[in-house]
Amino acid sequence: MATPATEKRLPGECSLLRLHNSVRDAVDFLWRRVYGTMKRHPSLEAFSRDHNVGLILGRRLVQAADADDAAREKAARELIEYWNDELREHFAVEERLLTHLIPDWDMRTRLCGEHLELAERVARLEKGETDPESLRQLGTGLGDHIRWEERVLFPAIEEALTEEQLRALGELTERLEQERANSRWAPRRGELMQRRNSGRANPQDR
Ligand SMILES: [Fe+2]
Repeated sequence: MATPATEKRLPGECSLLRLHNSVRDAVDFLWRRVYGTMKRHPSLEAFSRDHNVGLILGRRLVQAADADDAAREKAARELIEYWNDELREHFAVEERLLTHLIPDWDMRTRLCGEHLELAERVARLEKGETDPESLRQLGTGLGDHIRWEERVLFPAIEEALTEEQLRALGELTERLEQERANSRWAPRRGELMQRRNSGRANPQDR
């Protein structure tokens, strides 16, 4: 007896569907790894909110590198102010709360090494080194460091820690969150925290 046409097509269609799903999952996985759109665990949200500000100021430094003296001075002053207000402490809190939780030794070394390098670049900025290359290197370095933390370091920590350990970490980072509630660098931060605490936060908001 001849096989109905629909039965003949079915195996091929299933294979195509499986291939389609595999490709879609792979693309989705890569997209999340590259662009860091995975939802951040609440215990690390305080750091991620700081990162949003750091990315903006890093980008401004790079843009100012190609501008005139006044624009470079302005961008440098802004970064130095942010460093003294929040970024220096951000580095210190990350090192104090996260270093011993990082599962990979190379990642621990990289975290502290890049913090040190960025701190040295800010110190040179404070001494007046506001030439285009200095601004470009600091802005690029800060952005690259933040993206590495968001895309590689934080997912590794989230994967390595138990939910109980993450909750304990969250109790410690909550203090940083409260201190930043009225940050002049992120005026919407307090509002986002309130929405999160009331259970109405949009997962995309940080
Ligand atoms: Fe960070």
